[in-house]
Amino acid sequence: MKAPTMRLDKLLGSMGYGSRRDIAALARLGAITLDGRDLTDASARIAVTPDLPDRMTVDGEPVDPPPGVVILLNKPRGVTCSHKEAGPLVYDLLPTRWRARDPAISTVGRLDKETSGLLLMTDDGDLLHRIISPKRHVAKVYRAILARPLNGTEGALFASGQLMLEGDDKPLKPAELEVISPTEARLTVTEGRYHMVRRMFAAAGNHVEALHRERLGGLCIPADLQPGQWRLLGAEVVDRIFAGGPP
Ligand code: URA
Repeated sequence: MKAPTMRLDKLLGSMGYGSRRDIAALARLGAITLDGRDLTDASARIAVTPDLPDRMTVDGEPVDPPPGVVILLNKPRGVTCSHKEAGPLVYDLLPTRWRARDPAISTVGRLDKETSGLLLMTDDGDLLHRIISPKRHVAKVYRAILARPLNGTEGALFASGQLMLEGDDKPLKPAELEVISPTEARLTVTEGRYHMVRRMFAAAGNHVEALHRERLGGLCIPADLQPGQWRLLGAEVVDRIFAGGPP
């Protein structure tokens, strides 16, 4: 498929490099290169390909990734999945310029402030909706540390497809519990309801002390990605999200 093209000033503007005027000025100064040559005309049309950061520089630095980014963040505890709440936000962990991108980067669903682990972020609205769509049944795997020992009834309760959480109008889809130790369990769910895992254990008479998302579909956190660090995902890795699910 042929790559879409965009005017240089529009493309860099949408990536937070400034107004069309700012970009025209940068181009005139010779601050933008493509394949080693100065791009002095800000109205030139550029093929928007994922390898642009390998081919284009702005002020001597590789250009930011073009629209269509998918980011895997190892979310630390204590940061909020919101664009505007007080306190540290997941977006603060990304380069500052990325806050000015249009389309904006958003989290794919949310993790609670005190939940850590695998969080995807993207500016691709279609992909976001495909991942969170209930029809896709993308599995989410959480590890929970509990305040009290498991009593042995939780597995059947969570798998029943009958558990009704307070305030909800339909029961939860079956979820799978794996006991790791008396106070630690791994839970696989396919829904994304508000505070869902914490509310499930509360419904079973327990309390979640720490919660970590290990997996989303076929993706897990790379071993070398520390809390607070992130990585851009290529298209072939993104496909792994849906591995094993319906088309
Ligand atoms: N369930 C929760 O309770 N919290 C999360 O962050 C994710 C799932």
